[in-house]
Amino acid sequence: MSANQDLLRRSLHHVWHPCTQMKHHERTPLVPIARGEGAWLFDTEGKGYLDAVSSWWVNLFGHNRQEIKNAIKTQLDQLEHVMLAGFTHAPVVELSEKLSALTGLGHAFYGSDGASATEIALKMSFHYWRNSGQPQKTRFISLQNSYHGETLGALSVTDVAIFKDTYAPLILQSAQMPSPDSRLAEAGESEEAFALRCAQALEVYVAEHHAELAAFIIEPLVQGAAGMAMYHPVYLRRAREICDRYHVHLIADEIAVGFGRTGTLFACEQAGEKVSDIADFICLSKGITGGYLPLSVVLTTDQVYQAFYHDQAVRGFLHSHSYTGNPLACSAALATLQLFESSDVLGDNQETAQQLWTAVQAYDLPLRHIRQRGMITAFEVETNNPQFARECYAAALRHGLLLRPIANTVYWMPPYCLQGADIEHLLQATQATILESMTCV
Ligand SMILES: Cc1ncc(COP(=O)(O)O)c(C=O)c1O
Repeated sequence: MSANQDLLRRSLHHVWHPCTQMKHHERTPLVPIARGEGAWLFDTEGKGYLDAVSSWWVNLFGHNRQEIKNAIKTQLDQLEHVMLAGFTHAPVVELSEKLSALTGLGHAFYGSDGASATEIALKMSFHYWRNSGQPQKTRFISLQNSYHGETLGALSVTDVAIFKDTYAPLILQSAQMPSPDSRLAEAGESEEAFALRCAQALEVYVAEHHAELAAFIIEPLVQGAAGMAMYHPVYLRRAREICDRYHVHLIADEIAVGFGRTGTLFACEQAGEKVSDIADFICLSKGITGGYLPLSVVLTTDQVYQAFYHDQAVRGFLHSHSYTGNPLACSAALATLQLFESSDVLGDNQETAQQLWTAVQAYDLPLRHIRQRGMITAFEVETNNPQFARECYAAALRHGLLLRPIANTVYWMPPYCLQGADIEHLLQATQATILESMTCV
């Protein structure tokens, strides 16, 4: 039995893989990865896969990146972990200071995965209103087709049926506002006009329900799990105005889009000068450590922080996770920010994005809604193959490419280290993959 096959057999025996009907692995084999280098992943027998989805949108600067590895190793020799209740350490202080300067939101509360950041933001918003004498503000709103994670609180504001419906009896009620997803605009209606129309619908709802609303949570500019739905930044500006007018918090979930994915360091910066012009809370995770270690953070305003600052313990935010503010993860995050500081990452990405944009326009394939925000490029493939997503994923692997289509949407969200030959491979392998999986076999 080969090394690959042995690992696969043992994995299927004992590992329950995420977001997976395990029986499907009878037909679609697992991919046993042994190492990564730059934009590439390699299996135990040396076959390479270009990681066009940054390993579920976490990896920023490529696999095996020296600067981030070194930072983690240096920190490992000092302190691997200490609880953050009652204790502090240099990496978490430095990271909080930097994130505060970058976002304009001065207080950082840490978690581990993205969903834990969503939970923190929802609880904090609700608790803020309670501490401020408005305990009736208990409800949340989000966009149609939104995705904010899959723990029960996060699932309450997520609107993806396949993840949510089964658990409906367990979760909080929330309301979903029309999504400004430009694909839904009417013929002849501009992206901006459509976004404004959706903002009007938001205002109608908020005007009626604001007394019970704690917060509106939103994925700024790109709704990832909705199939990289993109929308005009004017929607964020209008949402901010509406939230101000009716005293509702705005939670920017930049777990997927933060750290340069949409072309600016944070997506909210395309709607306001700083994140704090748009959001009362920002949730960050995924790319924050360059894709090296789990870390999430919620940053918020002085006003929110002060509402918890009191002699009574119960007015404090008594939420915790064991690995909150882990020093190794914080050191990886600091090294990631350092990479943004030491070179013109966003400028370089513009060139890469332009190349991808030009190439995708030249594809001789039946594509619709070709769209791009920064380093996220997406399009719909016109196909009558009901199994398109699964077959496209499998075909891509055969071509040495990791793609994870969402229904008929194929997207690229690659690490920022793509070089000329990588881009060439990405373009050719994607085209061959789509041609193979477009028609039913
Ligand atoms: C916008 C957004 N929010 C929250 C999450 C949940 O993050 P995690 O999977 O780390 O819990 C994701 C994950 O894809 C996401 O895209």
